[in-house]
Amino acid sequence: MEDNNTPQTEELQINAASKSQGETAALQENLVEKKKRGSFTGKIGFVLAAAGSAVGLGNIWRFPYLAAKYGGGIFLLTYIVLALTFGFVLMIAEITLGRKTGASAINAFKKLNKKWAFLGVLCAVIPIIILPYYSVIGGWVGKYFFTFLTGSGASAAGDSYFNNFISSPWQPLLFFAIFVTAAFVVVIFGVEKGIEKVSKFLMPALVLLTIGVTIYALTMEGSAEGVKYYLLPDFKKFSIKTVLAALGQLFYSMSLAMGIMITYGSYMKKQDKIESSVHQIEIFDTGIALLSGLMIIPAAYTFSGGNPETLGQGPGLMFVALPKVFAKFGTVGGGILGTLFFALVLFAALTSAISLMETVVSIVMDKFHLSRKKSSIIVYVGTLLLGIPSSLGFGVWSAVSVGGMTILDMFDFLSNSVLMPIAALLTCVFIGYIVGCKNITDEIELNGAFKFKKFFNVMIRYVCPICIAAILVTSILDVFGVFNI
Ligand code: TRP
Repeated sequence: MEDNNTPQTEELQINAASKSQGETAALQENLVEKKKRGSFTGKIGFVLAAAGSAVGLGNIWRFPYLAAKYGGGIFLLTYIVLALTFGFVLMIAEITLGRKTGASAINAFKKLNKKWAFLGVLCAVIPIIILPYYSVIGGWVGKYFFTFLTGSGASAAGDSYFNNFISSPWQPLLFFAIFVTAAFVVVIFGVEKGIEKVSKFLMPALVLLTIGVTIYALTMEGSAEGVKYYLLPDFKKFSIKTVLAALGQLFYSMSLAMGIMITYGSYMKKQDKIESSVHQIEIFDTGIALLSGLMIIPAAYTFSGGNPETLGQGPGLMFVALPKVFAKFGTVGGGILGTLFFALVLFAALTSAISLMETVVSIVMDKFHLSRKKSSIIVYVGTLLLGIPSSLGFGVWSAVSVGGMTILDMFDFLSNSVLMPIAALLTCVFIGYIVGCKNITDEIELNGAFKFKKFFNVMIRYVCPICIAAILVTSILDVFGVFNI
C-alpha cells in the first residue's frame, strides 16, 4: 500500500482516517481535485500549495516590522538560525505526521495516541485566534488599496495618515468587515479553486513588483545606512525577547504549530520526497520575508533618519514607509504603483485568510457535526465579533492594554508567542517520546535516505523542547513584570 498509491487506495486511507462527515467532504474534494489536476499532483504541486499557504501578511507585513523593532540584523540572524534548525525540524515533523496518519491535526494525534488528542484541539484553537486579527490587518491593506485606487495615494504618504486611519472608529471596522465578507463569500460558495488558479499568476507578479520596489528603495539617498541596520547584526541588541519574537514569527510565517502542515502532509503522496519539499518551502517562505524586509526597512530608516521610535513602531511600519516610497514617483506614477502593489498584497492576504477560514470551518464542521453552510456562517459571524476589539484597540479602546500591548498585539502575542510555542513543544515531546523518532524517520525514508536524521532526532528530543520551554517561561514572566530581561 505504501508504494502503490492509486487514487483508490488513497480514498480508502482518507476515509479511514477521517471519521467525521465534514472532514471527509473536504478531503474528498481535494481528492477529486487531485485526480483532475493530473500532472500537478507531484511534488511541485505539493510545494506550491504549501508555500502558497505559508506566504502572506506574515512575510510582507509582519516580518519587516519585527525585524525593524528588534534591532535589524540581529533579528535577521536569529530568524535564519531558527529557520534552519527549529523550522526545518518542525516542518518535517508535521508534514510526516500528516502523511503517516493521512489525517488532519485533530485526528492525527488521536490516531497515534488517544491520550494526546488534546494536542489536536490546542492546534485547532490557534487559527481561530489568528483569523480575526489577520483580517483586521487585511482590512488595512484594503483601505490603502482603495486610497491609491481613488487617486489619493499622495495623502497616504503624510506622517499622520496611518494613525488617523487606525484610530478612527468606523473606517477600519468597515474595511475589516469587507475583507472578512470577501473571504466568507469565497468559502461559502466553494470557489477556492478559481482563486488558486489566479494566484498562480498574481503571486509571482507580487514577487516581481516587490523586487522592483526594493531595487528602487535601495537606490534612494541615505538607504545604505538602513541596509546596514537590516543586514549587519549588532550583538548588543540581542535578548531573549529577540529569540521569542523570531520563534513566534517563524511558526506564524511557515504556518507551523497549528496543524496546517499536518493537513498538507496528509494530502502528500507516498512517493514524494518530504525532506527536499521542506527545504523548498522554507527557502521560498524565508526568501519572500527577507526580500520584504529589504524593501521596507531601509526605506523606513531613510525617511526617519534612523529614529528608533519609527523603526520600532510595530504593525504600522509597512503602511507608513511604503506610501512615502511610492510618492517619489509623483502623483500619477506613485498612484499606479501603489494601487498595483496594495492590490497584490491584498490578494495574498485574502488567499491566506481564505485558507485560515477554511481551516476553522472544517474544525467547526468536525467538532459540532454541522453542515458546511452553517459552519461557514458561524465562523463568519464569530470572526466579525472577535475582530472588533482588535480593530477598536487602536482608537476608542486604546486604553485597554497589558504590558504596553494593544488588543491586536495581545491576540498576536497569545497565539504566536504563547500557544504556538506550547504546541510546538508538545509536538516535539509527542514525537520524541510517545510515537518515537524512528516511526517518523522511517516514513521519511520510504523514498531515499534522510540526510539530517541524527540532527532531527537530537533536535526533536532535546534541543527543541528544552530551548522552547526556556524561552517561553522567561518571556512570559517578563511580560507580567516578574523580572526584566
Ligand atoms: N503563514 C501565513 C502568512 O505568512 C499566515 C498563516 C498562518 C496562515 N497560519 C495559516 C495562512 C494557515 C493560511 C493558513 O501570512
